[in-house]
Amino acid sequence: MRFIVVFTFLFGVCYGDTKTWQQDVNFGNPTNWDKGRVPCASDSIKFPESVSVVFMQTNSTLKEILLPLNGALVLDNNVRIAFTDDSSVQPECTGEEQTFIADTPESWYNPGNWVGANGPVAVDTESVPCQYDQVVFPTEKLFSVGVDLSTTVGTVSFAGENFVSTMAFSSFLSSPSGQQQFSVSNNPTILLQNSQCNDLTGCVCGNDVEPSRTKICGFKSTCPALACRNAPIPVGGCCPVCGAIVTMEYNPQTFNYESVKTGIESKFGLGPSAQSSNSARRKRQADSDVTMYMSKTNEGKIQMVFTDSNGGSSSGQAAIRLALEVEDDIAQNLDSYGVTSVSMKSSEKGTGGLSGGGVSNGGIAGIIIAVIVIICFVSTVIFLTMRRNSLSWKDEPLHADSDIEMSQGLPPGFMQEIPNPTFDSAMRGFDNPMYTTTTKENIYADPAEVKVNTSGDEKKAAYVVEEKGAINGPKWEEDEDIKAFSNPMSADVMEESNA
Ligand SMILES: *[C@@H]1O[C@H](CO)[C@@H](O)[C@H](O)[C@H]1NC(C)=O
Repeated sequence: MRFIVVFTFLFGVCYGDTKTWQQDVNFGNPTNWDKGRVPCASDSIKFPESVSVVFMQTNSTLKEILLPLNGALVLDNNVRIAFTDDSSVQPECTGEEQTFIADTPESWYNPGNWVGANGPVAVDTESVPCQYDQVVFPTEKLFSVGVDLSTTVGTVSFAGENFVSTMAFSSFLSSPSGQQQFSVSNNPTILLQNSQCNDLTGCVCGNDVEPSRTKICGFKSTCPALACRNAPIPVGGCCPVCGAIVTMEYNPQTFNYESVKTGIESKFGLGPSAQSSNSARRKRQADSDVTMYMSKTNEGKIQMVFTDSNGGSSSGQAAIRLALEVEDDIAQNLDSYGVTSVSMKSSEKGTGGLSGGGVSNGGIAGIIIAVIVIICFVSTVIFLTMRRNSLSWKDEPLHADSDIEMSQGLPPGFMQEIPNPTFDSAMRGFDNPMYTTTTKENIYADPAEVKVNTSGDEKKAAYVVEEKGAINGPKWEEDEDIKAFSNPMSADVMEESNA
C-alpha cells in the first residue's frame, strides 16, 4: 500500500466541495417561463404579482408586458425593451401568452438547487452546502433565494464577489441587492467559517442534524421510483438508492480520509484519477459508469455510496459488483487502510418494473388528504383572485399600440400602508422603471439619481406610490410616442425612440 503513504503527504488536508447554485431569475432562461422558451416578439408576457425580481440581460422585443405592482425588472447595461404589434418583426414567433414562473424564492435547502464540483453527491443532505464547502452563485445572473434556517458554510462567492466572513456576507444580505435576491425569514444566520477541514480522518457535512435534515428531506418527500428492490438509504440521505453502501469504522491514529479516498478511486478506476489509470477501468468497460461518493457520516463512520447508470432490472448491479471488490480489498488490508471494520448493504435485482419510491400504505391516505387540501387551497386562491381582479384589473394591460397604461387600481388605503420608499443610491435595480419618476427628463436617468423626497413632505414622499396607483398612468406617457424603454443607466434612449 505504498501509494497510500504518498497520497497521505499529497492530500494531507481535505478541502470542502464546491457547490454551485442552479437557479436564477433571468429573463433569458427558458425554464423560467411557463412555455419553456424565452419570449419572442409577438408574445404577451406576464409577471405574476409574486415576482420580486427579474433580470433582463439581452434586448427584447415584445407585444405587451404586464408588470407586477411591486417588484423589480432589472436591466443590464445597454439593454433595451421594445414593443411592437407587427408580427412580421419576427415571423417565426407564433405569439403566445407567457408567464414568468420563477416567481417564488427557491430554497437554499432544496438539494435539487445545487450541483457539486466533485461529481454527483449521492447523499441528499450533503447536496446542500456543507460546513466546509465553497458556495458559488454564478456571475451574469440574478437570484431569488429563500433562506429560513441557519447554516454554516466555508465561503460564498456571489456573482463574482468573494465573501469569507460572516459579517461581510450578512452586510451584503442587508444591502439593497442582497435584500432583493435573498428572501430571509426566521432570522437565520449564514455562518462563513472560512476554514478547511483540519481533521485528517475527514469532516462531517453538518446537515444531517435536525432541523436541517427534516427541512432538506422535505424537498424529497416523493422519492423517485426505483427499478431495484430493497434499496438501502445512505446515512444522511432521504431516499433509497439502487447500488451498494460500504461503511467503514476507522482507527483515528492511522486513518487518512483523503488518501483512502484517492487510493480507492485510483485503484478501482473511479473519480477524477480514473483517467490516469488503469487496468481496473478497462476491465469494467462492459459495465456502465459506476460512481462512488464518499463522506463521513454524522455517526463518525466513513460511507461510500456506489451507484451506476444502468436502467431496468440491472439498475445498481454494476455498482454492487464493484462495491464487493472494494469491500473485499479493504477487508484484506484493514491495517494499511487504517480501517477497523467494513460492511456492505446493497439493493437487490429488480424485476424490471419501477417500484414506487417511498409510497407506503399509510402514504395513500396522506396523498388523498393532500389532494383535498390542495383543492381547497386552489379554489380559495381562485375565488380571491377573481374577487380581486374584479376590483382592480379595470384597464387593459400595457399595450404596444395604445399609450402605455397602468393597469391596476389600488384598494383604498393602500398608499398609507406603503412606507416611505427607501431608494438607496447604491441600488442597481429599481421598481418598475416606468413609474419611478414623474418628469420627462428623469425617465431614463440612472436610478442612483432618482430622487425620493424624504424631507417629510408627505405628498412628495409618496409620489412614487401615487403614480403606481394612477389609473390613467403617469403623465409622461400621454404626450410622447414612447415605444421602448431601456436601462435607465444609459441615457440615450429618448433620441432613439423619437427618431
Ligand atoms: C441593445 O440595442 C441597443 C440599440 O439598438 C444597442 O446599442 C445595444 O448594444 C443592445 N444591447 C445588447 C446587450 O445587445
